[in-house]
Amino acid sequence: MEALIAPELEAYAAKHSIPEGPVFRDLVAVTRSETDMPQMQVGRLEGALLRVLVRLSGAKRVLEIGTFTGYSALAMAEGLPENGRLITLDVNEKTNAIARAAWDKSPHGNKIEAKLGPALKSLESLEGPFDMVFIDADKENYSRYWDACVPKVRPGGLLAVDNVLWSGRVLDPKEPSDKAIVAFNAKAASDVRVDCAMLTVRDGVLLGVKK
Ligand SMILES: C[S@@+](CC[C@H](N)C(=O)[O-])C[C@H]1O[C@@H](n2cnc3c(N)ncnc32)[C@H](O)[C@@H]1O
Repeated sequence: MEALIAPELEAYAAKHSIPEGPVFRDLVAVTRSETDMPQMQVGRLEGALLRVLVRLSGAKRVLEIGTFTGYSALAMAEGLPENGRLITLDVNEKTNAIARAAWDKSPHGNKIEAKLGPALKSLESLEGPFDMVFIDADKENYSRYWDACVPKVRPGGLLAVDNVLWSGRVLDPKEPSDKAIVAFNAKAASDVRVDCAMLTVRDGVLLGVKK
């Protein structure tokens, strides 16, 4: 992922956001040593944003699509109240095991339930309403995830979608994933059910409030 802003500014913004506790620092290290794409983790700045959004929205029930090694799930779980719950979906058993091991070291890990399997399939059996949904999985399915999730979010609830600027490739789409994000962004922006604002944080984060 190419930085959209100067790396020094990105680091400065991260440094002035919620500090990363030892569980997150260990998780970053394990993800670097055990996986091929550690840059998929949302990291400190976006993790802080997600945690703030959970708190700000008063969310108690959160759904995530794209667990990976569990950074964003744990960041959001930290923002939930004691009786809050987060369900997170992924297909990858190996990264799920890394996530579970990290969550087990945190007092907030017991708020998280991971479901293994293709997210579109898992979504069929998940009932709403959710207070917040975070979409961060395979880009080709973003529009499908959106369509499956919007009806499951309560009115006034929040949808957050990661990588919507896709390292700037949305301006000159070539690959299927570039085109999928461009199509998704156009769809979300014209969706009358949701008020959207696109943030230029990290790789672009779309926020939508359901009407
Ligand atoms: C960008 S990573 C998620 C990063 C995570 N939010 C974090 O902060 O660590 C995307 C994840 O989507 C998962 N994924 C890809 N295709 C999927 C599918 N069809 N269903 C469920 N998960 C999928 C991948 O296994 C990968 O772990």
